[in-house]
Amino acid sequence: MNTDQLSKRLKTVADFLKPPIHFADIGSDHAYLPCYVCQQQKEALAVAGELNRGPYLSALEEVKRQNLEGQIRVVQGDGLEVIDNQVNQVVIAGMGGPLITEILENGKDKLLNINRIIAQPNIDARSVRKWLAAHQFNLVNEVILEENGHIYEVLVADKGDPFENYNSEDFKRELWLGPHLLKKKNKVFYKKWTEEIVKKERIIEQMKSASEPNFEKVKQFEKEINWLKEVL
Ligand SMILES: C[S@@+](CC[C@H](N)C(=O)[O-])C[C@H]1O[C@@H](n2cnc3c(N)ncnc32)[C@H](O)[C@@H]1O
Repeated sequence: MNTDQLSKRLKTVADFLKPPIHFADIGSDHAYLPCYVCQQQKEALAVAGELNRGPYLSALEEVKRQNLEGQIRVVQGDGLEVIDNQVNQVVIAGMGGPLITEILENGKDKLLNINRIIAQPNIDARSVRKWLAAHQFNLVNEVILEENGHIYEVLVADKGDPFENYNSEDFKRELWLGPHLLKKKNKVFYKKWTEEIVKKERIIEQMKSASEPNFEKVKQFEKEINWLKEVL
């Protein structure tokens, strides 16, 4: 892969790394992201962390092929355990929100020197926003984008102050839809959430026709549809 072939999704992630860049890419597969960043910026440093042997070997090979061994350390390891004291930013991209949250939770002791987390959950961004807010990482930016028929959200959070409004309805809505995405409301945002209304309405119909409807869940879905109708 050459550097112009990196996906729009990972280029968006790369744009949010802030100098001086010494980041860890957790779940780095072919190490495409660290290679792209280190090709673009000769002073950047990276750790490519991978749990599984196959993708770890692919990452090693790619780093070697691009002669980037001086800038990128490829490590086989679970989640944040690959982070050393020099790393200042963490990227976790291309996984489900619950797995990203689990990796952050299991490795939270490793986040002492980390001032930025960039997460790109493929599903359930809400769980990641919730974890970030509960651990004093404040969302400073978000992007929603479409590529090859998939919609992706990129969340950027900086270490900050404790959060207070945990229980307000506005906060719950922001956790779900994204505070920054709600302000920008671009075309992709409209597309994603308009489709979600249709999906949820269909599910509600199915739930209501069940022999023992789960009224709690129906109520929750109806509330979420109302939220969506208010913002769209
Ligand atoms: C779908 S790939 C995403 C690759 C790349 N980050 C991207 O966004 O294109 C997810 C990768 O995360 C790795 N992975 C899963 N759980 C992990 C963990 N706990 N620690 C490190 N890597 C993990 C998988 O082996 C896989 O290579």
